[in-house]
Amino acid sequence: MILVTGGTGLVGAHLLYQLVKNNEKIRAIYRSKERIEKVKEVFSLYDSDISLCSKIEWFKADVTDVPSMVPAFIGVKKVYHCAAFISFNSKDYREMRKVNIHGTAIIVNLSVDANVQKICFVSSIATIGNSLREVLLTEENEWNPQEDNSGYSITKFGAEMEVWRASQEGIDVVIVNPGIILGAGFWASGSGKIFTQIFNGFKYYTEGVTGFVGVKDVVKTMVLLTNSSIKNERFILVSENKSFKEVFFLIADSFHKKRPYKKVSLWQTSIFWRISLLISTISGKTPLLSKYAAKSANTVSTYSANKIKKALNFKFQNIEEVVKDVIEKYPKTGF
Ligand SMILES: NC(=O)c1ccc[n+]([C@@H]2O[C@H](COP(=O)([O-])OP(=O)(O)OC[C@H]3O[C@@H](n4cnc5c(N)ncnc54)[C@H](OP(=O)(O)O)[C@@H]3O)[C@@H](O)[C@H]2O)c1
Repeated sequence: MILVTGGTGLVGAHLLYQLVKNNEKIRAIYRSKERIEKVKEVFSLYDSDISLCSKIEWFKADVTDVPSMVPAFIGVKKVYHCAAFISFNSKDYREMRKVNIHGTAIIVNLSVDANVQKICFVSSIATIGNSLREVLLTEENEWNPQEDNSGYSITKFGAEMEVWRASQEGIDVVIVNPGIILGAGFWASGSGKIFTQIFNGFKYYTEGVTGFVGVKDVVKTMVLLTNSSIKNERFILVSENKSFKEVFFLIADSFHKKRPYKKVSLWQTSIFWRISLLISTISGKTPLLSKYAAKSANTVSTYSANKIKKALNFKFQNIEEVVKDVIEKYPKTGF
């Protein structure tokens, strides 16, 4: 039996499709029934036969709640841990620690108790350290706690530490560190929102550079790694390093929409996040732009995915193709 956490999110839903297609026996946790409908939507993007979704054993549980999670582990041999709370709002830091670090500690403890053989954990390039020397960052670039790290980065690093603890307890682990994941189905959240905003005429772009990858490649590599004898390693998953400008332009062109045309520079984003913070402090609303989102929008960080390419002889779909693929699934009337 395979247990999937975060199955009702972008990565998890695409992963579930891949696992069901492989005829694996799957149990997936969920928190609310409406989110299972999102998974069905993702399945329908691949296949008109959404009955495949009924092959999943759905189990109501929260990764931060031990009693709800204990029965989810009965008979489980492999765990794909995709659940996480992603936010760049400093107000969410406590909750992120709870879900990302404490939740992962619970997954690890219950995996030890259940004699799980392998855990595949979805981390992020947010836990890859910066370097003044290397142009391309690799898995060897250690995260530096002394830097001004975002809460998301701190909690994903803390979660990785819990997963390494699992390896010390005798469980085989693989960690994937994807860049920004582009995929279909979740148009109102995460990276899906980029597509929706550009479809709706988003005007702004920045020239920061980071790694991008398609969700289909993320889940393919996760399954290949988990089914292989590879263990206790982490792998950067990046198809290409691109500027936000390049990716936004690719998306606009594929939608046949006007390209974003207002460049936002570092000093503009740093003024904007401060104003956003001030407004949110007064209004109690979520800031439109957080300090760390502003920082990453203008930072140039490039990543090497050579390790995974060599380990699995893997070829990533390029970002232009990924974007075209995602846009093909975008609702014709917009979202
Ligand atoms: N998206 C990206 O660009 C990106 C890039 C790099 C790494 N990652 C990593 O990839 C993983 C999946 O991300 P995603 O984009 O699929 O995120 P997502 O769409 O926001 O999905 C998050 C998933 O986690 C679940 N979850 C959150 N808190 C939970 C809790 N307390 N108990 C149980 N489940 C909980 C959510 O459940 P509900 O549906 O109930 O909310 C949802 O299924 C995360 O670990 C993230 O850090 C994402």
